[in-house]
Amino acid sequence: MGALDGKVAVVTGGGTGIGLAIAERFASEGANVTIVGRRKERLDEAVKRIGHGAVGVAVDVGDDAQVKRLFADFDRVDILATCAGTATFGPIDQVAPQAWRDLFAGRFFGQLSCCHFAVPKMPSGSVIMLCSGIAGEAGLTNYSGGSGLCGAVNAMGRALAVELAVRGIRVNVLSPGLIAGTAGESNLGPDERVQFLAQTLIRIPMHRPGAPRDMADAAFFLATCQYASGMVLNVDGGWTAS
Ligand SMILES: NC(=O)c1ccc[n+]([C@@H]2O[C@H](COP(=O)([O-])OP(=O)(O)OC[C@H]3O[C@@H](n4cnc5c(N)ncnc54)[C@H](OP(=O)(O)O)[C@@H]3O)[C@@H](O)[C@H]2O)c1
Repeated sequence: MGALDGKVAVVTGGGTGIGLAIAERFASEGANVTIVGRRKERLDEAVKRIGHGAVGVAVDVGDDAQVKRLFADFDRVDILATCAGTATFGPIDQVAPQAWRDLFAGRFFGQLSCCHFAVPKMPSGSVIMLCSGIAGEAGLTNYSGGSGLCGAVNAMGRALAVELAVRGIRVNVLSPGLIAGTAGESNLGPDERVQFLAQTLIRIPMHRPGAPRDMADAAFFLATCQYASGMVLNVDGGWTAS
């Protein structure tokens, strides 16, 4: 018997990385999992890996009409984990403002849109976990717009926790530090990635990146701890404590 037996879980960004690890954990605990991403082939592969009857639905969460269609097919959603997103890096005077707007469209408004269309399907006792990043709390060079986004997601999570408590819905935010082994789509080239990794590891007290399964552990805690709400859970090897 699993801790999430019979629960209906929707995990956006579930085709790779953090979302995939969370989807695997939820499915292994008995949840009926639907993963969401833009690329069907990624989802097909992930569904095979997850097993347990998981389903993949190709949706761009930056498009409200697609998100509306996605949730229209559900009678009930018990767990919503919104991990879909990309990253954009660069100096403030070099990244075009439109690039940050595009980032917000998928990664911030995608999460807001999922909440908007999922909440009417969420019974008392259900839970939402948003996904931000420690840049919402720790200053990060060349990530001004992304830091603003993470802070905005944290604020939205706290506001929704207060707003939805009366409906019995818990809301929390998963805030990853540096997590390796994900697809990690961004505008950084291979050399810039190596440089970014080296600069970042210096700031992490544990001197190593985390793994997607660490985020899955955190997500499982948020899914099952009935008194956890309004939290921003930094999973960051001590980064934000230093
Ligand atoms: N890894 C880290 O160190 C880290 C740190 C802080 C924050 N984060 C954030 O955590 C989240 C998960 O990251 P990750 O590292 O696991 O990255 P990842 O492996 O690239 O996963 C992101 C997933 O989101 C999907 N996606 C992206 N945009 C989408 C959209 N508009 N609609 C639907 N699906 C979309 C991607 O699939 P498709 O391309 O097929 O759509 C991909 O499977 C991201 O928001 C990321 O920015 C990651």
